[in-house]
Amino acid sequence: MPEITSLIKKRVSCRTYADKPVEEKILQEFNCLVAAQHAGPFGNKPKYQLINLDMTEPGEWKKLGTYGVIKNARLFLAGTIKKGNKAVVDYGYCMESLILQATAFGLGTCWMAGTFSASGFARAIQLQEDELLPAISPVGYRADRQSFAEKIFRLSAGSDHRKPWPDLFFAGNFSTPLTQAQAGKYSEALENIRLAPSASNKQPWRILRETTTNAFHFYLERAFGYKLREVHIQDIDMGIAMNHFALTAQEMGIRGKWKINENAPPKSSLDYIISWQEVGG
Ligand SMILES: Cc1cc2nc3c(=O)[nH]c(=O)nc-3n(C[C@H](O)[C@H](O)[C@H](O)COP(=O)(O)O)c2cc1C
Repeated sequence: MPEITSLIKKRVSCRTYADKPVEEKILQEFNCLVAAQHAGPFGNKPKYQLINLDMTEPGEWKKLGTYGVIKNARLFLAGTIKKGNKAVVDYGYCMESLILQATAFGLGTCWMAGTFSASGFARAIQLQEDELLPAISPVGYRADRQSFAEKIFRLSAGSDHRKPWPDLFFAGNFSTPLTQAQAGKYSEALENIRLAPSASNKQPWRILRETTTNAFHFYLERAFGYKLREVHIQDIDMGIAMNHFALTAQEMGIRGKWKINENAPPKSSLDYIISWQEVGG
């Protein structure tokens, strides 16, 4: 099993943290990755930083609230992206690599686009007029037991269930499901999309494979009410899914590139985002 698949399987939202700081060496290594330059498939360049409550004035960190959803977190990953075409997709794409890195360090995380004090975090990260702060994540060691609020959250979002393949992946047209056997060497990359986190576990990604080529068209089935502070939250979901797909393909030695493909068939209920085209395959 490729390493990326084991990380994707290991990552699960964590809302209850142990009351202990992240080991210094890990913190430093993670901080280097966070502070590095990032660029998504659409060319947008998000910037991320770690906000350490232990280094923040108590008066300030009280404003970095999570409405009681997150317990005991002392460290948060947050970031900004300049407003632009598919900027939020790129934000999700790049941040998911950091989330999986945190997972590799044995740290818990939780994507959050809704249940955090946007104004408090905007101040802490010095958000500018032309920028968005689409989502944050607490980072830290998992507590031994989940809080009651966390159990309720998971139950109400149905977090332990993912849609089956026929609901998500299609071959040639949207009436024909793509089976795992038909997906062949792409089966794992698609399965890793299916396992991705998404806002309220809506799993809004729909992927159409062309029948004769290794081209995969990525669409969003947008739900009503998923726009907050100018951010289409499900664009983050799409970025995360693209990240899982590309990293899995890369690890399996499959070369490909993202491009807007005029052959992607339109469908009124879906929003076409981008396509993956295998290179030299
Ligand atoms: C873009 C995005 C936004 C999310 N926003 C929140 C949030 O505001 N609060 C929260 O507690 N969980 C949030 N989640 C976590 C999802 O509820 C969670 O990923 C989903 O239920 C699947 O569970 P899992 O992450 O444990 O696999 C968000 C996830 C994503 C990808």
